[in-house]
Amino acid sequence: MSGFKIQLRDRVARINEELGKVFQQNLDTPEVIIEAMKYSLFAGGKRLRPMLMMETCQALEGDVEVIKPLAMGIEMIHTYSLIHDDLPAMDNDDLRRGKPTNHKVYGDAMAILAGDGLLNYAVEIMLQGTQGLTGRALTNYLCAMKCIMGASGILGMIGGQVADILSEDKVIGLDEMDYIHLHKTAALLEACVQSGCIIAEAEPATQGRLISYSHRIGLAFQIVDDILDIEGNEADLGKPIGSDEKNHKSTFVSLYGLEASKIRVDELEAEAIELLRPIGERTVFLQELASYICHRRK
Ligand code: IPE
Ligand code: IPE
Ligand code: MG
Ligand code: MG
Ligand code: MG
Repeated sequence: MSGFKIQLRDRVARINEELGKVFQQNLDTPEVIIEAMKYSLFAGGKRLRPMLMMETCQALEGDVEVIKPLAMGIEMIHTYSLIHDDLPAMDNDDLRRGKPTNHKVYGDAMAILAGDGLLNYAVEIMLQGTQGLTGRALTNYLCAMKCIMGASGILGMIGGQVADILSEDKVIGLDEMDYIHLHKTAALLEACVQSGCIIAEAEPATQGRLISYSHRIGLAFQIVDDILDIEGNEADLGKPIGSDEKNHKSTFVSLYGLEASKIRVDELEAEAIELLRPIGERTVFLQELASYICHRRK
């Protein structure tokens, strides 16, 4: 296994351990809702968002202990978005993270509630992270949290999901395509990087580079997702292939074809890495993460 793969595995294990702690609190609520939330949260995601957030913070010498609840929160928000994205009223998919989708196991109503539950509980966990913080550390934390909530809301991910739904059965232009990708996918990745910069009090120039990096990996991430929806392998991906065609989605691939899409991913990968290189050695893992996102099979 390469050095990077080992680092990746260790980080995923650490994030899973931290997420486990989130559910150690005594939660006085019907058991089924906790079961449904945990079912999707612990089904084995790549954990890219919390990883990106903690790694950015670490690379900039910020306090990773402080940012941890925000990192757990964003993974919970991301997981809720997947549960809802799979619902019959949205993409109507049956497989997620290698398991039957939440609504296939718990029914539509409980899946909707499990998504809602993850979103609300994420906010609660993030707010619990303010305990013990004062002064500038508290201000920074709340500023990062505002950025996460903004990026996952109507000005970010939800806005992108709306545009994605509206684009079904239509041929859209590159501007609209970029809007969809930058919002439904890149917004959360941007919020991860930005939160890391805020907690670590990064220099504006460094922050600018990291934000541009997040846009490149966000666009690449979604184009690769769309390529894998055609060329991927269901067993590796853990979700169905052909979902976009089934739903008559406009994707980068449906508009420009597979070859042009792969060329675009290569360009975005190179740009993302070049943006970080001047920041130095400490961004090597983030540079490798860009390549991983662009060459992933799952
Ligand atoms: C899937 O995200 C949804 C998209 C934004 C394309 P991931 O591919 O990061 O899903 P998990 O978290 O690894 O399951
Ligand atoms: C959805 O994009 C991204 C979200 C915000 C959930 P997709 O619909 O392409 O994601 P997958 O392919 O189902 O993971
Ligand atoms: Mg979708
Ligand atoms: Mg989907
Ligand atoms: Mg997809």
